[in-house]
Amino acid sequence: MSLFLTILLFIGINLASITAGDDHHRFVYNGFAGANLSLGGTAKVTPDGLVELTNDGVRVKGHALYPSPLRFRESPNGMVRSFSASFVFGIVPTFSDLSSGHGIVFFVAPSKNFSDAIAAQYFGLFGNQTGGNGGGGQVFAVELDTIQNRELGDMNGNHVGIDIGRPNSLLSHPAGFYDDDGMFQSLTLTSMEAMQVWVDYGRDTTQINVTMAPAGMPRPAVRPLLSATYNLSGLLMEPAYVGFSSSTGAASARHYLLGWSFSINGPPAPAIDIAKLPKLPRRVLPKAGPSSKMLPIILPVAIAAFLLVVGTAISLLVRRRMRYAELREDWEVEFGPHRFTYRDLFHATEGFDDKNLLGIGGAGRVYKGILVGSKQEIAVKKIPHNSKQSMKQFIAEIVSIGRLQHRNLVRLLGYCRRKGELLLVYEYMPNGSLENHLYGQDDTCNLDWKQRFQIIKGVASGLLYLHEEWEKVVIHRDVKPSNILLDNGMNGKIGDFGLSRLHDHGADPETTHVVGTIGYLAPEIALTGKVTPLADVFSFGILALEVTCGQKPMKQNAQGIQQTLVDWVLVHWHKGSLVDAVDANLQDDYDIDEASLVLKLGLICSHPSESLRPNMRQVMQYLNGDMPLPETILTHPGFGMFHLMQERVSNLYVMSYPSQV
Ligand SMILES: *[C@@H]1O[C@H](CO)[C@@H](O)[C@H](O)[C@H]1NC(C)=O
Ligand SMILES: *[C@@H]1O[C@H](CO)[C@@H](O)[C@H](O)[C@H]1NC(C)=O
Ligand SMILES: *[C@@H]1O[C@H](CO)[C@@H](O)[C@H](O)[C@H]1NC(C)=O
Ligand SMILES: *[C@@H]1O[C@H](CO)[C@@H](O)[C@H](O)[C@H]1NC(C)=O
Ligand SMILES: *[C@@H]1O[C@H](CO)[C@@H](O)[C@H](O)[C@H]1NC(C)=O
Repeated sequence: MSLFLTILLFIGINLASITAGDDHHRFVYNGFAGANLSLGGTAKVTPDGLVELTNDGVRVKGHALYPSPLRFRESPNGMVRSFSASFVFGIVPTFSDLSSGHGIVFFVAPSKNFSDAIAAQYFGLFGNQTGGNGGGGQVFAVELDTIQNRELGDMNGNHVGIDIGRPNSLLSHPAGFYDDDGMFQSLTLTSMEAMQVWVDYGRDTTQINVTMAPAGMPRPAVRPLLSATYNLSGLLMEPAYVGFSSSTGAASARHYLLGWSFSINGPPAPAIDIAKLPKLPRRVLPKAGPSSKMLPIILPVAIAAFLLVVGTAISLLVRRRMRYAELREDWEVEFGPHRFTYRDLFHATEGFDDKNLLGIGGAGRVYKGILVGSKQEIAVKKIPHNSKQSMKQFIAEIVSIGRLQHRNLVRLLGYCRRKGELLLVYEYMPNGSLENHLYGQDDTCNLDWKQRFQIIKGVASGLLYLHEEWEKVVIHRDVKPSNILLDNGMNGKIGDFGLSRLHDHGADPETTHVVGTIGYLAPEIALTGKVTPLADVFSFGILALEVTCGQKPMKQNAQGIQQTLVDWVLVHWHKGSLVDAVDANLQDDYDIDEASLVLKLGLICSHPSESLRPNMRQVMQYLNGDMPLPETILTHPGFGMFHLMQERVSNLYVMSYPSQV
C-alpha cells in the first residue's frame, strides 16, 4: 500500500517527492507543475510550472503554502526541531526602469488566513502592529526586500533579512554571498536572474543561517550571509504552515518561485535539481503597431516628439509638486481650519523672497506676506523641524493656543507642515519688535516714557492672561524684547508663546534641556529644570528693567567685568540713586514715580528666590497702583547672592545648550 502510494505520487505529481513520517518531514519541488499547494491572493501556477506570487498589479498580495500544517515540535510543548529549507526564486520588475516592489518572504506561520495582512512593505504576511497572520506575531520569516522602507528600519532597497513576528528585521544584510575567499559578492534581487536561498535552523544552537547564491552555483560554504541566534521554541505555533508570500506596492513586479525543498528533523532539505527547473520569463515588451513603409521614419520621430512632450509635462508637474509638497496626516483633519496650504503661503510671501524677510530668530526665519484672496497681512515663521513623533501633540497645542485671544497676544492664525519644516502663521505686526525699538539706530531707544510704560503694562497683562485667565496655564518660557511685538498703537503684544514647547517635545527626556535665553532665564530652571509661571515673572522683571534703563541684561562695567543689569540697578537702589538708572535718552522727560515703581518691581520680579517673586496678578496690581509695592523684599539677604547665581546659570546654560547662544 505504501509502495503503491509512493509510486502514485511519483507518477501523479512527477516533480514533487514527499516523505513523511512521525518525526520527520521532507519534500522537494523541482518546478511546480501539478503540485498540490495552497494558493491565495494573486498567486497561481503557470503552465510552465512556475509559482507566480504576484502579477503586475499594484498593492496586490499572493501566497503559496504547503497544503497541510507541519509538526515543528517533538511534542505539543516540546522544542522546535532543526529544519532547513531551500528555494529558487526570480523577480521580474514590471517596468524597464527596474523599480520593483516589494519582494518575497519565506515564512513559518500559524495559519493560512492572510486577511489581516497588508501589502507593500508588509509582504502580504504581516499586519499593522505585529503578525497579521494569526494576529499574535508567531511568524518566522526570511525577507528578500527590494524597497527601502525607513519606517521599518530597512538598510537599503536590496537586502535579505530575518524577521521575527514583524517586518522590522532582527538582522539584515545587503543581498549577496561570501565566496570561498570570504569576500562579499553582491547580488541584485531584481536582476531577472534566478537565485537560490538556503535557510537553516538548529534546535540546540537556536541558530538561524541564511545563505544565497545565483541559481546553479554550489552553496557558499565559508560563511552564511546572515547568522542570528533566536530560540524559535518560544515563537512558533504547533503545528505551523510553511510557504511564501509576496506583495507589491506602488511599484510592482512579478515574483516567481522556481523550486523549493524542505526538511524537518532529518537530513538537510533535499538538493533542488536546477536543470529541471522551469525558466524565468523575460519581460514582455509592448506589441509593435501596424506595419507600414513609413513606419521606420515616422515612428522614431513620433516617439521622440511624444517623449519630449511627456517628459516636459512630467518635469513641470514634478517641479510643481515638489515646490508645493506638504506633509499631511490623518490626525490633522480636526485641525483643518488652522491648516494653510504651502502654495498660499508661498504666493503670499512671493516665494519666501528675501525682500520680505522680517528677521532671523533662534527658531527660524520670519517673512512678511499678504494672503492672495483676503489681502490679510501675515507673518510666516519657517522653522526647521524633524521630530515626527511629537508633531501631533505639538500641533494640537499650537492650535489650542491659536484660540487664545487677547489684545496683548500676537494671534497665531494657523500652520503648515512640510518635510523637515514647520510653518507658523501669525498676524502681522507693523511696528516690529520691541528689541528693534530699544536698540534701534545707534543702539538708542526711540520710545518715550509713556510708550514704554504702556508696553510694560501690556506685556504684564498678556502674561497674566496666559498664566491665569485662560482654561490652561500657558508658560511662555522665553519672554524677551525680541518676542514682544508692537502694533499700530505701539501696544506690546507677546509673540512666539508655545514655541518653546517645540524644543521640549523633540528632546530626550533623559537629558536636561534648558530652553530660554541667557540673561532672562530664572536661576531655578538651570538648577532644577522645573518651569513654573514664576520663571516668566523673572524674565518679565528683567524686561521691565531693560525697557526703563534702555540697557541689555548683561553689560560690561568700566573695568571690563561682566555685570548684570539687576546688580547695577540694585547698586543704585542701595545708594539711593535709583533715578540715575533710568535711560538717559529720556532726558528727564518721564514720570519719576512710575519709573522708580517699574525699577523696584523689576528687581522684585527678578528675585533669585522663586518664592519671593509676585505672581502676574499682583504685578498688575502694583503697576496699576492698586497695591503698594512690598519693598522690604529688596533688603532680603538672598539678593546678595544674585551675581553668583546668575554666573552659575550662564555657565550651566552654555554647557547644556551651546548652539543657541
Ligand atoms: C492537497 O493536500 C491537501 C492537504 O494535504 C489534501 O487534503 C488534498 O486532498 C490534496 N489535494 C490533492 C488534489 O491531492
Ligand atoms: C480570517 O481572519 C479574519 C480576521 O482575523 C476573520 O474575520 C475571518 O473569518 C478569517 N477567515 C477564515 C476563512 O477563517
Ligand atoms: C494601522 O493601524 C492604525 C491604527 O491602529 C490605522 O489607523 C492605520 O490605518 C493602519 N494602517 C494600515 C496600513 O492598515
Ligand atoms: C550556521 O553557520 C555557522 C557558520 O558557518 C555554522 O557553524 C553553524 O553550524 C550553522 N548553523 C546551522 C543551524 O546551520
Ligand atoms: C529554547 O526555549 C526552550 C523553551 O521554550 C527551552 O527549553 C530551551 O532550552 C531553549 N534553548 C536554548 C538553547 O536556550
